[in-house]
Amino acid sequence: MGGRKGVLGQVRSKAAKVAAGVGRTPKCDARKAKVASRTWGVQEQRGRRHLSLSTLVSRGVGESGEFTSTIFDVEDVSLAGSKESILRGGRDKFGLLAKAFEGIKTIGVCGWGSQGPAQAQNIRDSIEAAGLSGDVKVKIGLRKGRPSWEEATACGFTEESGTLGETFDVVAESDLLLLLISDGAQASLYPRVLAAMKPGATLGLSHGFLLGVMKNDGVDFRDDINVVLVAPKGMGPSVRRLYEQGKSVNGSGINASFAVHQDYTGNATEIALGWSIALGSPFTFRTTLESEYKSDIYGERCCILGGVHGIVESLFRRYEAQGMSPEDAFINSVESITGPINSIISKRGMKAVYEELDGEGKEIFMKAYSASFGPSMDICYEIYEDVACGNEIKSVVNATNRFDRFPMGTIDQTRMWKVGEEVRAKRVEEDIPLNPFTAGVYVANMMATLTTLREKGHNWSEICNESIIEAVDSLNPYMHARGVAFMVDNCSFTARLGTRKWGPRFDYNLVQQAYVAIDNGAGVNDELKQEFLNHDVHSALAVCAELRPSVDISVSTDEAVGAGKARTQYKSSKANA
Ligand SMILES: NC(=O)c1ccc[n+]([C@@H]2O[C@H](COP(=O)([O-])OP(=O)(O)OC[C@H]3O[C@@H](n4cnc5c(N)ncnc54)[C@H](OP(=O)(O)O)[C@@H]3O)[C@@H](O)[C@H]2O)c1
Repeated sequence: MGGRKGVLGQVRSKAAKVAAGVGRTPKCDARKAKVASRTWGVQEQRGRRHLSLSTLVSRGVGESGEFTSTIFDVEDVSLAGSKESILRGGRDKFGLLAKAFEGIKTIGVCGWGSQGPAQAQNIRDSIEAAGLSGDVKVKIGLRKGRPSWEEATACGFTEESGTLGETFDVVAESDLLLLLISDGAQASLYPRVLAAMKPGATLGLSHGFLLGVMKNDGVDFRDDINVVLVAPKGMGPSVRRLYEQGKSVNGSGINASFAVHQDYTGNATEIALGWSIALGSPFTFRTTLESEYKSDIYGERCCILGGVHGIVESLFRRYEAQGMSPEDAFINSVESITGPINSIISKRGMKAVYEELDGEGKEIFMKAYSASFGPSMDICYEIYEDVACGNEIKSVVNATNRFDRFPMGTIDQTRMWKVGEEVRAKRVEEDIPLNPFTAGVYVANMMATLTTLREKGHNWSEICNESIIEAVDSLNPYMHARGVAFMVDNCSFTARLGTRKWGPRFDYNLVQQAYVAIDNGAGVNDELKQEFLNHDVHSALAVCAELRPSVDISVSTDEAVGAGKARTQYKSSKANA
């Protein structure tokens, strides 16, 4: 692999860029400084005065979410008073793909994990629907001899047809290269990948992770390529499943953020938007690579994956200790979240969960909410700041380098999840209760997740997707159908590692702080209650809900080939390198 030295010769050093004043400084950094001195956490429970959330979030909002296109009709939306631009998806836009992909003959998709199979098949189908099959080819790049090679072949990508080849051959051939190998592999292979790309080609990422790695390494992308991002806010199986369901209506899918980090050819925005339309994203919003990796790595560690895992483990034990049978404890924790609570939030938002309850239920919800919000904020802040300073990315890269000696463990073999298998087998959907205590703890975690993002300066589209929509419309449905391991382990290695690391921290803080406080008689915190009921997020989410997929995801209990089945078992990275 002779690339690293060569490419490092081509990359621009960060110091030189900063000296030349070319660095990209996201607006959120300035906003971060404004809110840095505010205190959050257990203080709220003690009733101390603090700046109200609505005051806090009205500052410095929104402009970074605006964009224009010369091909697609971009709409302005007002999210909690902030103007942002979105591109609405739909199969009726496929006709514009020819223009968006002008000059692109080969779209290379390297990687067949969670995103690879979904994105490659969706784009291939969209190109076919647009009548472009003869002009644009989707070609998969993989390591020969791996199970993923066979899976891709079974999905119709074959060597014979020129739509399947070795990773680095495909890198070199691609006009648009979608780099969907694991983030850990991107961290070690990027010099070689960049060296192999054609000048003028477009590097497409589905995560800003690589930028975080390169920042830690002190290097940047070479100058003569475009660098764009389209990041679906959900796992690959959801991206594919909803796209397939959407074929009978005008499309359906998972929302995506997009970013243009480097526009060498002058049409990088159109290429990125075309990619997102071809994936079937119901709406696409703008971000930056940096904002994306911060919010994404953070969000999946909080309520999207790590938070929810920690919550249900702690609640299951609590309910059993209070005398419930194991089955009832599972039903009142996991089933309640992935069933009625999830469905209400998905369609009507978080406040509707509270409004659905009777007087006594509302009181229980608010007590649980009041006690859980501060301890959840505490962990959320720690996660955000560890991500923002580069520590979490280093931790992921280090962990993947240890995989051969310490592979990732399984997460669904405990008694609780075995009970869950039996509960799911006997489930009567309508009988699943909306447990008010569970709802209070879960919604507090969501609110803590989004409050931290807002305080750190992210725009509303990103916040709603990284804290709420991805959880309720993409991931929780899989936990409902298949349990926790399927939900977690169909996400990226980055997400899986983060869930294993931070889930137990949420569990610990809830048990040690929130539940103890409640058991010691802590009541409703009126200030927190009013802030929750009047929070700007409810109106922002209502606008996003209008743009939600036109069909509900329907998850089968048996995964088909092509949904990334080859990835769910750990495989030695050294053995496969
Ligand atoms: N998973 C999600 O839900 C999700 C959501 C949004 C964005 N993303 C982003 O999408 C990208 C892909 O993530 P993913 O979860 O889909 O995939 P992944 O499971 O993390 O990666 C799997 C793929 O990486 C390949 N790979 C690993 N090491 C390699 C090496 N040394 N050389 C070549 N290939 C190697 C594997 O090859 P083999 O097939 O040979 O094993 C496999 O095809 C990441 O940037 C991720 O952050 C993921």
